[in-house]
Amino acid sequence: MVNAAVVGYGYSGRAYQSYLIGLAEGLRLHAISTRDEGRQAEAKENHPDAKIYPDFDALLTDDDVDLIVLATPHDVHCDQAVKAMDAGKHLVTDKIMCMNASEAEEMIAARDRNNVLLSVFHNRRWDWDYLTVRKAIDDGLLGEPYLFKVGIMRYGSPRGWRGDLAQSGGILFDWPAHFVDQALLLAGAPVESVYCDVIFRDHWPIDIGNYGTMLIRFANGIRYQIEIGNLSAIAIPRWFVAGDLGTLSKSGLDPQEPFLRLGLIEDAKEPPEDRARVVTYRNGDPEERIIDSVKGSWKDYYQNISDVLNQGAELIVTPEQVLKTMRVYDAAMAAAESGQTVSLN
Ligand SMILES: NC(=O)c1ccc[n+]([C@@H]2O[C@H](COP(=O)([O-])OP(=O)(O)OC[C@H]3O[C@@H](n4cnc5c(N)ncnc54)[C@H](OP(=O)(O)O)[C@@H]3O)[C@@H](O)[C@H]2O)c1
Repeated sequence: MVNAAVVGYGYSGRAYQSYLIGLAEGLRLHAISTRDEGRQAEAKENHPDAKIYPDFDALLTDDDVDLIVLATPHDVHCDQAVKAMDAGKHLVTDKIMCMNASEAEEMIAARDRNNVLLSVFHNRRWDWDYLTVRKAIDDGLLGEPYLFKVGIMRYGSPRGWRGDLAQSGGILFDWPAHFVDQALLLAGAPVESVYCDVIFRDHWPIDIGNYGTMLIRFANGIRYQIEIGNLSAIAIPRWFVAGDLGTLSKSGLDPQEPFLRLGLIEDAKEPPEDRARVVTYRNGDPEERIIDSVKGSWKDYYQNISDVLNQGAELIVTPEQVLKTMRVYDAAMAAAESGQTVSLN
């Protein structure tokens, strides 16, 4: 049994991390640290067997903790991760891994000097939509993909630290952390260049902007456009993927989150209207299909962490992969600043 401890008992610490750790065979929720008295009481009520610590430093003194999971704002991930690994703990951080590639390198160096596990909670590698797109490509329904357009456009102010540039990193550091991770896996080629732009309408009491876009060019010619917005009254398709034989369009979000919040992730169901529509041209004629989604499970992320620590399995989400994501972010931030496309060597 690996004893896990969750840092921060906000939305992710409560709904995601402590719940999913409890569902993994071989992991045990041993402790939770939260500085807030109300959240300490809530954590105790929800997890009577877990120790509750008033802060991160107190948690680090517990020799029974094997694995620390960070569910804190982005700007503290690197510092907390390095401290935890230097205290000999394995470390999972929620996304986004950290603020930039140099912090990611610091975290990897801490892993290496302490010989511990380091991973990033990229649960959205098990999203139904992502897995469905991958399967449609693997099944040859699109031919060779050349264009991906992914995004989420909503109308509403980001909550708390998410709207604060210094703590979050910006509008592109939240959901798009998953989009960039998925892009690097789907494109299957090195990134050649990145363009990025952010629109500021000063609409909400935030300083991260209201719309952000990245255009990633891959060495195999694929263009991957990411869009995120908090000032759009109509949604866009979650996915639009064009290949030389066919096109896929899919709306809606992965259905696991509302079920996870109820503690019922295994009951996740997708509204039928959110299934992907694919049109494929064969012999000059279009064939249209509505395809059932591939049902991934976020439980698999922590089962892999457990299997790595208990049985020596291969780690699925490696920090080396996510370092590549952070290099894309460095290029994107430079592009947003200069207004120029930035090349990656
Ligand atoms: N993978 C996903 O699908 C997903 C979904 C949601 C969130 N997330 C990620 O989860 C992380 C936390 O987001 P959230 O939505 O849970 O935020 P949240 O509800 O605001 O909770 C953040 C927690 O972090 C702690 N905290 C706040 N400021 C801190 C500071 N300066 N130093 C140390 N701890 C601090 C607070 O802990 P106390 O209890 O000690 O006050 C709070 O409980 C982020 O990285 C976010 O991107 C990922």
